[in-house]
Amino acid sequence: MKDMKKLMAFSKKLPWRNEREFYDLHSADLFHHYDFYDASIIGDTDQDCLSFMLGELRLDQTSTLIDLGCGSGYLASAASQICRKAIGISTSKECIRVCKERRGENEKLKFLVANMENYVHKGATHVVAMESMGYASLKKTFRSVNKSLGYGGIFYIKEVARLVFETQERRENRQYVENYYKYKHRLTADIIKSAQVHGFDIMALQDRTDSQNNAFFLDSSKYNKSPLCLPHTSAYDQLYVKQVHIKFRKVRDI
Ligand SMILES: C[S@@+](CC[C@H](N)C(=O)[O-])C[C@H]1O[C@@H](n2cnc3c(N)ncnc32)[C@H](O)[C@@H]1O
Repeated sequence: MKDMKKLMAFSKKLPWRNEREFYDLHSADLFHHYDFYDASIIGDTDQDCLSFMLGELRLDQTSTLIDLGCGSGYLASAASQICRKAIGISTSKECIRVCKERRGENEKLKFLVANMENYVHKGATHVVAMESMGYASLKKTFRSVNKSLGYGGIFYIKEVARLVFETQERRENRQYVENYYKYKHRLTADIIKSAQVHGFDIMALQDRTDSQNNAFFLDSSKYNKSPLCLPHTSAYDQLYVKQVHIKFRKVRDI
């Protein structure tokens, strides 16, 4: 085990203070080298990841999709070929610049600098947040998504959720990574509870931890401007979070 105090002190001196600064610094590298930031966590290739997501969302030409925290713009771009409209948003200007450069824009595809906590696009049929909601307030984001969606609208979340019971080693790994990426890992139950308070019913819950493949994600950290050094490196300790997918349906206004 590495010295936890030294690691935490080091990670407090990172060259970014928040997620916007992290993505402003890293988007050009990350999103030019990888399509989905976490593609390999679903399947083995970008195409596997995309097919999985499009299969889950069941879009058609009447759909309007909003991608909250759109990364490289890969999902919004592919969805725009099926839907009426797709919009990708991110708080990082650099991320949106890369999306526009890589994907282009047209009347069916738009990329915007915006915050999921207050972004509203009325008349959306689908909203997705793939590993991005940990950067934002649950309450504010669910409220905004509620305003964007009509009744029956779908909100699909892929999250890295906190374990209910943690060993000390796993807890230290999680705390280190939360500080490094400025990402909050929540309990799945807290996400579901907040969704229900804000007008959503749960349609499906999948724990995909066992089938995840971390290869791209680990590879991508070589582009980070400061090294990612987990305090505990055994295979067991590295499973310090769960990958959960939750599909919600809007059932009431709030
Ligand atoms: C881990 S990346 C995930 C990218 C993409 N969804 C994927 O799965 O490849 C997180 C993304 O969320 C964006 N982001 C962070 N906080 C946000 C916020 N409050 N509102 C909108 N986007 C945000 C980041 O700029 C980045 O594009």
